[in-house]
Amino acid sequence: MTAVNINGRVHQVDAAPDTPLLWVIREWIGMTGTKYGCGVAQCGACAVHVDGVITRSCQLPLSAVGKAKITTIEGLSKDGLSHIVQQAWDKFEVPQCGYCQSGQIMAAAALLKEKPKPTDADIDAAMTNICRCGTYPRIRQAIHAAAKMIQA
Ligand code: FES
Ligand code: FES
Repeated sequence: MTAVNINGRVHQVDAAPDTPLLWVIREWIGMTGTKYGCGVAQCGACAVHVDGVITRSCQLPLSAVGKAKITTIEGLSKDGLSHIVQQAWDKFEVPQCGYCQSGQIMAAAALLKEKPKPTDADIDAAMTNICRCGTYPRIRQAIHAAAKMIQA
């Protein structure tokens, strides 16, 4: 068994050491908010925070997680709505199909933690997640709005 700390709770999982964290989260723990897109660290659908750092979980083996604290979309806020990024996403109705959005929100939350007043260039550099619905303009708008909420 391997201990893995997800959203503040330690889970014991009997997954092989090379199992990607994404599958541990989805299949062993049963949290399905983190999505599988490409499987090769390109799309960002599987993004989670590992000790606060945005990380694509499809390419992180369980053996590399160790004692790191993982935060998934389910753990970003207690009610799933109250994180400042979630509030901005709701206000600007960012999601279309929604599939990419948990990864987008996790990436935006990590960006704003590091840079509370990101420029467009900062957003372009940090938000490399793919959205097949093309919600990029609303994502940018919502990040700027969330930044303003932080300053207020
Ligand atoms: S599924 Fe991990 S980056 Fe696409
Ligand atoms: S909202 Fe549909 S893929 Fe991004």
